[in-house]
Amino acid sequence: MVPETMLNSGHRMPLLGMGTAAYPLSSSQLVESAVTAAIELGYRHFDTASAYQSEPPLGRAISEALRTGMISSRDELFVTTKLWPGHADPHLVVPALRDSLKALGLDYVDLYLIHFPGRFNLTETTFDVKKENVFPLDTQGTWQAMEECCRLGLAKSIGVSNFSCKKLSQVLDLATIPPAVNQVEMHPLWDQKRLREFCAEKGIHVSAYSPLGGKGAVWGSNAVLESEEIKQIAQAKGKSIAQICLRWAFEQGVSIIPKSFNKERLKENMEIFDWELSKDELQMMSTLPQNRIFSGDYLISEDGPFKSVSDVWDGEI
Ligand code: A2P
Repeated sequence: MVPETMLNSGHRMPLLGMGTAAYPLSSSQLVESAVTAAIELGYRHFDTASAYQSEPPLGRAISEALRTGMISSRDELFVTTKLWPGHADPHLVVPALRDSLKALGLDYVDLYLIHFPGRFNLTETTFDVKKENVFPLDTQGTWQAMEECCRLGLAKSIGVSNFSCKKLSQVLDLATIPPAVNQVEMHPLWDQKRLREFCAEKGIHVSAYSPLGGKGAVWGSNAVLESEEIKQIAQAKGKSIAQICLRWAFEQGVSIIPKSFNKERLKENMEIFDWELSKDELQMMSTLPQNRIFSGDYLISEDGPFKSVSDVWDGEI
């Protein structure tokens, strides 16, 4: 039902997944029952991170789905998790993935991503990061350790998240295994056109996080779901604003991982594959004013690696 893409690693990835980042944190039971509902609805791709604290309930829901026969094999699922910057030290990478696998109750993840192009000298996985805890990423050492995760069979594919074209180039220059995915903020109000062109040229798949604007995440906003222009298209089309956003992203060739812990909305977010946006609608959407929602401004300091928002994104703002 959900189309797939072939990653440069030779593995397939469903183009729609369920996001699990929520702030304030949702109860573990709510996450588990939402994942179970999603599996019932046909979701086979799940996005988590050690920082979201959703690995244990996701793992429990998977184990229960296997026990009850909702899925017959773990291989039917595509599970992504991420390396928290507090563990982005070469010697901590493999142990961090092993901890994630333990929390998930899995032998491997389908995709392991460097969560952010920085290192925090904090081992706890909190979003409450102070400027003084932010250090540059050891790109070479960390990527080599990511490659080791692949060689050990702990991750089928590896990639990055929140990387600019410049930072991706640095990884490509030293990689033996190139990143399969760059997971970035993307929605109609931040269309990532330039980064998508760069990734297409390099064979790196782009995955859109916060495809609805991330309302309810640490960095989120209502701007996307309350956009008047998108609302007009949605009304004329008989679709919801969320469906217009998701269909738009799908038509740009990226994968989408909308977060919902609500069964009706999980279902609504799947119903985007049997209709399309017209040329006029796509044209209207291409004129929307562009603004990044997650700026990373709280990571900026005089003495740190990011002296401005522009530094975080290498001018891609
Ligand atoms: P909920 O979990 O209550 O459904 P993003 O994927 O951009 O991070 O956005 C997630 C936010 O959007 C969450 O607050 C989620 O709330 C909400 N959401 C997800 N799907 C829909 C939908 N179809 N319509 C409206 N809001 C949605």
